[in-house]
Amino acid sequence: MGFSDYRTALVTGASSGIGAATVRRLRAEGLEVHALARDARRLASLSAETGCRICEVDVNDLAALTRLAGAAEFDVLVNNAGQSRRSNILDTAADDVDTLVDVNLSAVLHLTRLIAPGMARRNRGHVVNVSSIAGHYAFGENTTTFNSSVAYHATKAGIHSLSQQLRVDLYGTCVRVTEISPGRVATSIFQNQDAADNPDARFVGGFETLLSDDIADAIAFAVRASARMNVAMIEVVPTFQVVGELRFASRTQAAHLKDMRSGADNA
Ligand SMILES: NC(=O)c1ccc[n+]([C@@H]2O[C@H](COP(=O)([O-])OP(=O)(O)OC[C@H]3O[C@@H](n4cnc5c(N)ncnc54)[C@H](OP(=O)(O)O)[C@@H]3O)[C@@H](O)[C@H]2O)c1
Repeated sequence: MGFSDYRTALVTGASSGIGAATVRRLRAEGLEVHALARDARRLASLSAETGCRICEVDVNDLAALTRLAGAAEFDVLVNNAGQSRRSNILDTAADDVDTLVDVNLSAVLHLTRLIAPGMARRNRGHVVNVSSIAGHYAFGENTTTFNSSVAYHATKAGIHSLSQQLRVDLYGTCVRVTEISPGRVATSIFQNQDAADNPDARFVGGFETLLSDDIADAIAFAVRASARMNVAMIEVVPTFQVVGELRFASRTQAAHLKDMRSGADNA
């Protein structure tokens, strides 16, 4: 199995960032690529550039996903669409929880539920799920720029778990499942619009992040691997980004943190 055996791909979250880079990469390998997102203008420009097919669809539109899954046979499914919110559980809005669960987790389960059975029947296919290091680790104090919400962490942990169980459900078939877990990539997802319009932008001055092409390379590595090899998970982080911290507050520091929080609440 590899690029030469796959003919069609569906990439969600294709209008920008990692998804757009993945569309470009899979098109360059000769696959027919269906690019799914909501932003029609960006999709049209990607299609003009790469020849991909446009699927202007919200991943939470279950009827549209069902129609799409019934209209074509996909050999490669890249579940990449995602959103993030910057918040702490002490100030998380109800809408943010719902949106993150709907887009980052429910939609992936539904699309996989709709497409994986056809792959299993044909005994050919590859599901690539884009999770995050947020799904594997808790992040300690950081600049607010790099903060992501507990709901984001939880949905990405869900992507890790469903990827693990999907391999069990597809056991005995030639369908492969890969989880790609990126660290920080220069895209617009963490409210950095400059990155959306400039693929070469670093995330924030001074921080040398990954580029979307780096993640597309990791996806391509997994998809082109030989049939006997299922790249189960790849964690890709910027060289200057590490996870690892143990915090232990003394009673005095804990009281100080509590005062700071109530000061912020009263501000
Ligand atoms: N950038 C990072 O540092 C980083 C790190 C770890 C993991 N990731 C993951 O990588 C994936 C891609 O994100 P990115 O960094 O490339 O950010 P991005 O440039 O903001 O891309 C997100 C994509 O998701 C699409 N999307 C969002 N809501 C959607 C919806 N309801 N229906 C359909 N499409 C929707 C967006 O398209 P429309 O707005 O046009 O719909 C866009 O194409 C996400 O799953 C993210 O969690 C990113």
